[in-house]
Amino acid sequence: MFGSKRARLKDGTEVTLRPMVREDEEALFNFFQGIPDDQLIVLRHDVKDRDTIREWAKSLNYERVFPLLGLVGGAIVGDATLHRVAHGWKRHIGRVRIVVAPKYQDLGLATLMLNELVVLAHELGLEKLWAEVPLDSVKAIRACRNAGFACKAVIEELVKDSRNQNQDILIMVCDIHTFFDRRWDEGTEQSGLPS
Ligand SMILES: CC(C)(COP(=O)(O)OP(=O)(O)OC[C@H]1O[C@@H](n2cnc3c(N)ncnc32)[C@H](O)[C@@H]1OP(=O)(O)O)[C@@H](O)C(=O)NCCC(=O)NCCS
Repeated sequence: MFGSKRARLKDGTEVTLRPMVREDEEALFNFFQGIPDDQLIVLRHDVKDRDTIREWAKSLNYERVFPLLGLVGGAIVGDATLHRVAHGWKRHIGRVRIVVAPKYQDLGLATLMLNELVVLAHELGLEKLWAEVPLDSVKAIRACRNAGFACKAVIEELVKDSRNQNQDILIMVCDIHTFFDRRWDEGTEQSGLPS
C-alpha cells in the first residue's frame, strides 16, 4: 500500500515520505517541540506532551489513523494524518490534518504529502477527503487546492485560536472519484469544434 518514497522540495532538499512506525516516537516528539503553539491549534491532542506521542506510537493502527511522515536526514519535518471511520454515513470520507515544520514551509512539502494521501485514499476506496483549515491561512488553503481540494463552506467563528479568540474555518473537500476519473483522457478524439 505505502512504502517509502523520495522526492525533492522546491529548493532541492531531498525528503523521504513514509508511514510512522513505533520507533519514530522520539523524533515525532522532537518535531512537535519545534512547532509554535498557534500552528498546533488544528490538532486535537496536546502533542507537546510526551505521553500523547508515546500513546500514539504504542497504539498505531493504520486503519483508523494513517500517519505519513516527511523526513529530512532522519529528522521529521512534516506530519500528515488520514483519519477513517469504519461505520456510519461518513465511512467513505477520510479526514486529513497536516503540520509542516516552519523551516520547511513554502517548499511544497504539504502539497507533496497531501498528494500522497489522495492517492492512498483512492487505493483504500475512500470517495472524499475532508480538511478543516483556518480561513486566514493562505498556505493551508493553497496547499490543499494544489492537492485537488476545493473550498466548500465557511463556518464563521467556530473554533478558538491559541489566544482564545473565535476564528472562522474553511471546509475543503477533495472528490477522489472526480480526481481519478481519467475517462476523458483516454480514447477521446478531438471533437472538431472550431478552434
Ligand atoms: C498549512 C501548512 C501545512 C502548509 O505547509 P507547506 O509545506 O508550507 O505548504 P506548501 O509549500 O505545499 O504550500 C503552501 C503554498 O502557499 C503559498 N503561499 C505561502 N505564502 C503565501 C502568501 N502570502 N500568499 C499566497 N500564497 C502563499 C506557497 O507559495 C505555496 O503554494 P505554491 O506551491 O502553489 O506556490 C503549514 O503552513 C502548517 O503546518 N501550518 C500549521 C498547521 C495547519 O494550519 N495545517 C492545515 C490545517 S489541517
